[in-house]
Amino acid sequence: MKTIIEPFRIKSVEPIKFTSKEERTEILKDAGYNPFLVSAENVIIDLLTDSGTSAMSAKQWSGIMDGDESYAGSKSFFRFETAVKKITGMEFIIPTHQGRAAEKILFSICGGEGKSVPNNTHFDTTRANIEFSGATAVDLLNAIGKQPSVRADFKGDMDVEALVKFIEETGVENIPLVMITVTNNSGGGQPVSMKNIREVSNICKKYKLPFFLDACRFAENAYFIKQRESGYENKSVLEIAQEMFSYADGATMSAKKDALVNIGGFLAMNDDALAQKCRNLLIVTEGFPTYGGLAGRDLEAVAQGLEEILDENYLQYRIRSTAYLGENMIKAGIPIIEPPGGHAIYIDAKAFAPHIPPHQFPGQSIACELYIQGGVRSVEIGSVMFGKYDKEGNVVSPPMELVRLAIPRRVYTQSHIDYVLEVLTEVFNNREKLKGYEFTYEAPMLRHFTAKFKPID
Ligand code: F0G
Repeated sequence: MKTIIEPFRIKSVEPIKFTSKEERTEILKDAGYNPFLVSAENVIIDLLTDSGTSAMSAKQWSGIMDGDESYAGSKSFFRFETAVKKITGMEFIIPTHQGRAAEKILFSICGGEGKSVPNNTHFDTTRANIEFSGATAVDLLNAIGKQPSVRADFKGDMDVEALVKFIEETGVENIPLVMITVTNNSGGGQPVSMKNIREVSNICKKYKLPFFLDACRFAENAYFIKQRESGYENKSVLEIAQEMFSYADGATMSAKKDALVNIGGFLAMNDDALAQKCRNLLIVTEGFPTYGGLAGRDLEAVAQGLEEILDENYLQYRIRSTAYLGENMIKAGIPIIEPPGGHAIYIDAKAFAPHIPPHQFPGQSIACELYIQGGVRSVEIGSVMFGKYDKEGNVVSPPMELVRLAIPRRVYTQSHIDYVLEVLTEVFNNREKLKGYEFTYEAPMLRHFTAKFKPID
């Protein structure tokens, strides 16, 4: 059969509230033209994030009832620890309430003034945690990953030559660790090849630098490797994931993605001394090392989710349904990062609205219009999220202006996505009417969450 169906039946549903275009125009204005500030009940299809938005399975919900809420040594912790060790092969597993808590702990210990941390592309919270510690976050994405319209299998790969040059110039003593983010969220949800992970690992070994994976979407990345990298077609996704982690010394994980839960995360590592320091900080900021800011029930749900995410029928459906949205957008002429990524489709806002310069936020303009036209919530990943100011106060834009349509796991059906496609096409066909935006408020850090805007007439 050609049709790849959702590999689940729906047992529990949540109603969607419908709003009119006139209502949404007012709602967005009241929210300062920032979709983050719109109440979720006024969103029809929410593609803001794939993080913490998964539908849990019946088995995860029964795990919730079964959670052991003991303060220390809970049975749920050991089930969680076993599940994480099976995939990562790492020795020390530290639960945190979400991914950024793992980052905060890690970089409070490893970061600091004068230090630099390279990555293929840092996610915004990783960058913020590194910079908050006083260190510098450096992106070393390969050249092809920066070209939205070029199709390649592994556009998330790190530029290994740039990494060597960076290490030589910066000095190993100033680099606490090297990271790779799988899949590369900020670079379009593009996968990283096993070859690249292995090469970066070898470089790190040569220079005696710890190598960490930002593993939020490790299963989606492993499935891409199975599909696209020769030698992996007959391996199980679990085996591929195990090999990916085997090259790393540690990992940060937001379980809100590929562990199919609404909250959770962890740090995993092999270095005993570092783990001890992390646990000490965990106790101050998150909780006792066997729950780390989570309830026992959450640890059960993570353990179960980590089993379900490696189901290859699920992954086939997951990657295929993201591609379905992307391929139909391409057919409609909408410029996106090609090929479609794992968890999201990224609109190339510079190509979509070339009349709006980066400092007037073309991505924000598209995100606002998708909301007004169809109640579809997306997020700008461009000058609003990553723009900086130079000494003269001019906006320094990142290389790409994107709008992300992230697909929650196991939540929307094909007809929801067909509706999104209709809305996208409507906005695209009227793209010359899109206006630029300017800030009316911006916070000093992670400004995209709380910024307010007004359209420029
Ligand atoms: N690393 C990556 C690659 C991420 O995508 C995220 C979160 C984090 C770390 C932080 O994890 O949210 O659990 O603290 N990404 C979400 C997103 C927010 O929408 O892409 P967290």
